[in-house]
Amino acid sequence: MSETDTYRAALEISRKIEEDIKINPKKYRVLTGDRPTGRLHIGHYFGSLQNRVRLAEMGLPTMILIADYQVLTDHDAYQEISQNTKQLVIDYLAAGINPEKQDVIIYPHSYVPECNQLMIPFLTLVTNAELSRNPTVKEEIESAGLKNVNAGMYTYPIHQACDILFCKGNIVPVGKDQLPHLEMTRTIAKRFNKKFCLDAGKESVFPEPQALLSKTPMILGLDGSQKMSKSRGNAIMLCATEDETAKLIKKAKTDGERLITYEPERRPEVANLLMLISLCTGEAPESIASRIGEGGGGQLKGELTEALNEKLRPLRAERARLEASPDYIRQVLLDGSKKAREIGIKTLDEVRSVMNMVI
Ligand code: TRP
Repeated sequence: MSETDTYRAALEISRKIEEDIKINPKKYRVLTGDRPTGRLHIGHYFGSLQNRVRLAEMGLPTMILIADYQVLTDHDAYQEISQNTKQLVIDYLAAGINPEKQDVIIYPHSYVPECNQLMIPFLTLVTNAELSRNPTVKEEIESAGLKNVNAGMYTYPIHQACDILFCKGNIVPVGKDQLPHLEMTRTIAKRFNKKFCLDAGKESVFPEPQALLSKTPMILGLDGSQKMSKSRGNAIMLCATEDETAKLIKKAKTDGERLITYEPERRPEVANLLMLISLCTGEAPESIASRIGEGGGGQLKGELTEALNEKLRPLRAERARLEASPDYIRQVLLDGSKKAREIGIKTLDEVRSVMNMVI
């Protein structure tokens, strides 16, 4: 299958899952995660965080993994991992994730050894040739400018399969770039099930997880040219103040045309700002554009500043409250790790049993 065919097929499956989760929320377990490389920005918020909150509120059991080991694959810096981990938890909770009210477990990799232990059998189910073909890994190696590729970078898609399979996650909300990793996860699940379960007349241990693709279009950075990202300096962080937000939007790139129109192909910068207003207020971008019309870039930016600051005001207030409760944040992570380990211990028992390693 070509890359577009794979994408279309994933979209179709995603659509069907969306229908089914309304009827059978408990049939699913969601696994999602982030690398703790910094705080989250509005691209994360509209692209994935809001969706996680929606799924958790619908009653789907949800695991949110903080992929601390994965930071080491393409970053030399490790000094801020702990701090970033806690900041991620603050962003999640401020956005509406609530482990006390929802069936949500938040934990870092490094506190759940059972998950990481699956790496050893899984490595034997994949070939070097398959690892070198992964387009997302290739791209990341290139964009990070890595000259010597460490084996952690090369094998992290297998580690991601461990993340998903150790808790028998069957839905993974992701963007398009993560599809090759999900393909790899399904391959590992299939091979494991065939070799250790089905061929020996036993029941399968692992599900074959599917992607739940985001419906929000990619949020561009304020430079309008590429995906919003902190490292490119084109992002508005969730934790920014209202003044900082206003200043960043004032500097956002637009174009030379005064009349505001919504034309994502021809005018990506203006379209991106219109889309952001639309995500805050629910008004269609075309209608915002015709309302602003000759008001031009100044009015567009003014409206965005107001809409975004208003939308984020409750989140930012909650953020400030949570920042003042570091013990609570730590407890969320410790409780989450404990629950994740209980799930992992069960899976590992099954895995040992089918691999004939029980003593
Ligand atoms: N690679 C993901 C990212 O960089 C984080 C991640 C780690 C993840 N393990 C995962 C995402 C498993 C989905 C499933 O954002």
